[in-house]
Amino acid sequence: MSRPHLESDPLSLTRRPRRLRRNPSIRSLVSETQLTVDDLIYPMFVMEGENQRVEIASMPGCYRYTLDLLLKEVAELYTLGIKAIALFPVVSESKKDDNGTESYNPEGLAQQTVTAIKAQTPETIVITDVALDPFTTHGHDGVIDENGVILNDETVAILIKMAVSQAQAGCDMVAPSDMMDGRIGAIRKALDENGFTDVGILAYSAKYASAYYGPFRDALDSAPKFGDKKTYQMDPANAREALEEVALDIIEGADIVMVKPALAYLDIIHQVKANCNVPVAAYNVSGEYSLIKAAAQLGWIDEKKIIMETLLSIKRAGADLILTYFAKEVALILHNK
Ligand code: PBG
Repeated sequence: MSRPHLESDPLSLTRRPRRLRRNPSIRSLVSETQLTVDDLIYPMFVMEGENQRVEIASMPGCYRYTLDLLLKEVAELYTLGIKAIALFPVVSESKKDDNGTESYNPEGLAQQTVTAIKAQTPETIVITDVALDPFTTHGHDGVIDENGVILNDETVAILIKMAVSQAQAGCDMVAPSDMMDGRIGAIRKALDENGFTDVGILAYSAKYASAYYGPFRDALDSAPKFGDKKTYQMDPANAREALEEVALDIIEGADIVMVKPALAYLDIIHQVKANCNVPVAAYNVSGEYSLIKAAAQLGWIDEKKIIMETLLSIKRAGADLILTYFAKEVALILHNK
């Protein structure tokens, strides 16, 4: 191709930002943000039974696994460099009750799964969810009174038992996702009193009342049977309140704070990062996953590129860690598999 003739003199520019974009080598030298498998946590669903995995209809590529198959998957993930998982049990209706008592059953599915994973792949960091919604007949994260009001302190009393039972099973971190007031401090105290000073707390600190959790509730059959979660999860209109929640959780003993969801809340991630000195996690939630999967299935987007750009944006906003259902795909992309 011939170079077009420049009618006038070249622009007299001292600064030409394009110099640093000339080729891949220069671009990689000045790249400000890196996405690596080291920063990813893979949320996984475990169900009762044997030798089965069932794809979640609204989350193509994500499965509920029985424990035996989950163990195989965890081992494979470890070889791919994914060394942290967030575990969610699928609890059958017959085990649910109003107070979510199954949540602290020492022989419960989550507890058994944690013990089995740590026996098989001790290097894998197992993070357990602390909230009552998979275990309650009404689907709320806490216990309720006769008017359906979610009771804070009564719920925290149960969450403490749940967290301690998970620590006894061998988890590395507990992740309270319930949004009750004061639960981080209460859980820290209970863990310490029971000798689990090394079990960490990944706090869902700024968790919004979001419609993006829909597919996850399909995965766990955990949609609330009445009302919504707005009396405990945060109003999407609020940013300052996120900083207040984060500050409280850090005072109470959170090791890592989290913003959830991620994409509609990149500004919150950014502000949280600027305002605290503990690692910041972001949860790239189920609905964010499903949006990309659906468009990819329709052939409307380049899925791999969209995944990488999306997760990079979460890191650029300030997240140190990302919980994402794309973790395995990212590992495969980064390993060119
Ligand atoms: C419940 C919990 C939810 C998610 C994680 N823990 C759903 C909810 O609050 O209703 C959502 C995760 C996702 O959408 O990927 N304690």
